Amino acid sequence: MKFFIDTANLAEIKEAQALGVLDGVTTNPSLMLKDGVSGDENQLQRYVDICEIVDGDVSAEVIATDLEGIINEGEALAKLHTQITVKVPMIKDGIKALKYFSDKGIKTNCTLVFSPGQALLAAKAGATYVSPFIGRLDDATTDGVELIAQIRHIYDNYGYETQILAASIRNPMHIIKCAEVGADVATCPLSAILGLMKHPLTDIGLAQFIADYNKVNAVTA
Ligand code: E4P
Repeated sequence: MKFFIDTANLAEIKEAQALGVLDGVTTNPSLMLKDGVSGDENQLQRYVDICEIVDGDVSAEVIATDLEGIINEGEALAKLHTQITVKVPMIKDGIKALKYFSDKGIKTNCTLVFSPGQALLAAKAGATYVSPFIGRLDDATTDGVELIAQIRHIYDNYGYETQILAASIRNPMHIIKCAEVGADVATCPLSAILGLMKHPLTDIGLAQFIADYNKVNAVTA
């Protein structure tokens, strides 16, 4: 399972990269806003800065909602860096753009996916990644992980190569549940990735080992 970090914050990206388990980054306009990155030039520079920190794919979202606009923006984003993946919304012109980018060898991430039918369309259009938003589904009292399982089943039926990128992840259990049902990628806040390593028995066990080591040292010193 690949781990992406879901942020535009360079300090968090560096911390995740330093862990040695990071495979990529996803961003969106809301995450740019949250990190105070304003203006087109600064946002484009932020994508380049992120690509220089990580080795894997970096999703950069288009704002246009018409085919020509999506293509123009997407091609400009893809030219920024070889690691850029063009993030395209699940709308009619978005599907056409996914096919266009796929034919041109430009990597894509189909975003704002909330149903198996949308995921099927994204795969048929040749998306590199499909992003089901599981946290937002859970917030709306619909099982987000169940959607990941449905998409996994459908993609496996036909051998679609589109990677299932579980998005809108809120906590470590989301990551575990997505891993159980076979998501290819989880894009997570840093807190959810760090949460995976926490267990009180680890802390208690480590404290005991250190205490016992010190006792042995005291005896033999
Ligand atoms: C990532 O690609 C998505 O844009 C992101 O995970 C959405 O997360 P949210 O539902 O927490 O805004």
